[in-house]
Amino acid sequence: MTDKIPFTGKSPLLDRLCAALSAEWLAYYRYWAASRTVVCPQFIDLPASLLRHAAGKLRHAKLLCRRIIELGGRPEVSFADMRPASFTSVCHGLEQFLKSIRMAEEDAMIRYQEIADLARKSDKRTCSLADEILLEEARSEQHIQDLLYSIGPRRRRLCRNA
Ligand SMILES: [Fe+2]
Repeated sequence: MTDKIPFTGKSPLLDRLCAALSAEWLAYYRYWAASRTVVCPQFIDLPASLLRHAAGKLRHAKLLCRRIIELGGRPEVSFADMRPASFTSVCHGLEQFLKSIRMAEEDAMIRYQEIADLARKSDKRTCSLADEILLEEARSEQHIQDLLYSIGPRRRRLCRNA
């Protein structure tokens, strides 16, 4: 039986889209796990806010997955190239978690800018998708920055069972 779906690695654009897909899955999991774990009396709506971020990451992953398949690629996920800080959980402390999330959002903005630049002349749909997600990443990054500013010096561990 012939596998009709080509493997990724056929083009720099597909490679970047798969890397972005991997990052979105990891971000989705991190936000979701944090929303289930964090306890923050100063910000009662923090779990719900984190869950909204998780939903945004899942939406991005679905959009990327669809586009990769439309381009003839295979939506494979790998975390091998992720920075160690990308695996920081909220159990390391809320501030450290939020800083690592902010870094991940900044990385995502760079990644989507690169995808948009790469696709701008040859693939308008992918370029438009990257621009759309880039805008949402910028909003997420700003929200995380606002949270960090709000928390200020209250650097306590805010994880259940901590
Ligand atoms: Fe995203």
